[in-house]
Amino acid sequence: MKRIVIAIKNSEFSNQFALNDFHGVINNPKHGKVEYFIHRNPMMKISPVGGLKSNFDVLIDNPYPGESTEGADFISLLKPHQLFTNKREAKSIMRHRLNSIGPYYKGFTPIPAWKTTDPLLLGQSGGWGNDISGMVVLKDEHGARGAGQVMFEVSNHSPACVIRAIKDQAEKLHELEENPRTDQEIIDDIKKVIPKVNLGYDLNVGIRETVTKLSTNGTYIEQFVPGVKEEFRILLCPGNHYVFSREIENVDGYKQACGSKGGMRKPVTDPRVLAVAADAVELLNKAGVIYGSADLFVTDEGWGIFEYSSQFAANGVASEYSREIQTGLINHVIEKFLDGEK
Ligand SMILES: Nc1ncnc2c1ncn2[C@@H]1O[C@H](COP(=O)(O)OP(=O)(O)OP(=O)(O)O)[C@@H](O)[C@H]1O
Ligand SMILES: [Mg+2]
Repeated sequence: MKRIVIAIKNSEFSNQFALNDFHGVINNPKHGKVEYFIHRNPMMKISPVGGLKSNFDVLIDNPYPGESTEGADFISLLKPHQLFTNKREAKSIMRHRLNSIGPYYKGFTPIPAWKTTDPLLLGQSGGWGNDISGMVVLKDEHGARGAGQVMFEVSNHSPACVIRAIKDQAEKLHELEENPRTDQEIIDDIKKVIPKVNLGYDLNVGIRETVTKLSTNGTYIEQFVPGVKEEFRILLCPGNHYVFSREIENVDGYKQACGSKGGMRKPVTDPRVLAVAADAVELLNKAGVIYGSADLFVTDEGWGIFEYSSQFAANGVASEYSREIQTGLINHVIEKFLDGEK
């Protein structure tokens, strides 16, 4: 029997493999039975007589955008079939990919979005162009759990004004406060300047994360999608996926499905939802997303995708399903490796 050692880099991602066995035998449809070992401590070195030594056969790497490239050039010396990378992407890049490919699918809802790479423009009136209007959501490029999002109507507050108000708050958070303000007091202070915004934030982590993240990470703006009826999380791996229902909460008047709460234990079986999800998975595959998770929404008119991630965002999911999805990825990686060794 063949034996393969798989190393997973990026601790956040590898934690999600806690559910999986670190050692097992898998039946690969193409290569038969393979014994595998998984660890999270990839190491490589140059052998004095040439050639590379590594404590793995295959490396799964999920780097953050802009992550330190220490070791990256060295890792690039691996053979192509030894390296399996899937970059985590900024929300604006995901939006661009989805809007470009999505319109080929029936019922797909593109979400108009605005982004500029010139930081000087962000806080200037008119900096976002004159085609921005209606209800929008300002997002932290790397936000999670709904944090780092502000919803507002452009005729009430200009994007520049909202950004400046949030940045002011971030500076205040850095000041030493004798009696630290409560979350509600911070929200009240924000609303003194921009009264008509709705703030997205994780109820557990609070408004501090929204303010801090929005002012340190990049930002971008997208159109608010009215009439979202239901939201789902798709967990996918090559050749398989499951769909889970997500609870929508009302946070400061901004209705959000935050994180992985409610209804996520068992997959949905409603054939109408599954039909839409099958299209969504095909679209994701075309966008280069073959594993991880994606947030699907359904409206009266159609469906769309809020975001995807190379992470298996599977909190609350019964372990048998996330295990199956993770094992699907392992099997895929093993197959690619053995294909390449031939
Ligand atoms: N353009 C939009 N229109 C309407 N609702 C939105 C929009 N963008 C986000 N939301 C709501 O906010 C939720 C969180 O958005 P998104 O998935 O972009 O951020 P996130 O913080 O990474 O989420 P999470 O980590 O909880 O999946 C969505 O599931 C949806 O309920
Ligand atoms: Mg999401």
